[in-house]
Amino acid sequence: MSDIVLIQGSLNPESKTSLLINEASRELTRRNITHEIIDLRDLDNQFCDGRALSEYNDDMQQAFAKMDKAQGYIWGMPVYCFSVSGPLKNFIDITAGAMENKSSATICNAGGNRSYMALGDLSRILAFEARVVTVQPAVYTSYEDFTDGKLTNPAIGERLAIMIDALLKQLNLTS
Ligand SMILES: Cc1cc2nc3c(=O)[nH]c(=O)nc-3n(C[C@H](O)[C@H](O)[C@H](O)COP(=O)(O)O)c2cc1C
Repeated sequence: MSDIVLIQGSLNPESKTSLLINEASRELTRRNITHEIIDLRDLDNQFCDGRALSEYNDDMQQAFAKMDKAQGYIWGMPVYCFSVSGPLKNFIDITAGAMENKSSATICNAGGNRSYMALGDLSRILAFEARVVTVQPAVYTSYEDFTDGKLTNPAIGERLAIMIDALLKQLNLTS
């Protein structure tokens, strides 16, 4: 069982969100926090159509079980059309029942530097649907934080560490 589940929400094979989620995972390892990554690229992310959980495929049921056992979450959210990407929203539609009253932190990755209000959409969805608390600060990145497919802005790593400390404090998990 993992204390924290990180959800990598991009389906792009060259995803920058995945680089950030991997960096967050390294920060958790440094703090000896048990965690695992659900990468939506590795999941048969079935469309939500309102059926019972038991009628979804094994991947979705296993993802739900992991979300259910975790104490908190770190979201890796690519920005699509100034909001939460479709695949990630679909994942939340199916797994929201596992998150009731838990806590999360958000990493938002966009192309430009003006789509940061998309973070509010994710926080609102989680709060309204499952009373999930989202800690601050969040991490927001855009293309200018990456060079040749690597995260090159050191300020992002610092902010990520502060965000993770805020989440661990919220969860009463000390490193
Ligand atoms: C369909 C689509 C919509 C997008 N909409 C926005 C947007 O509204 N604002 C923005 O800054 N970037 C937007 N982008 C750029 C992505 O946020 C950017 O490519 C980001 O790196 C995606 O994350 P990923 O690399 O993990 O897939 C969009 C990209 C796609 C494919």
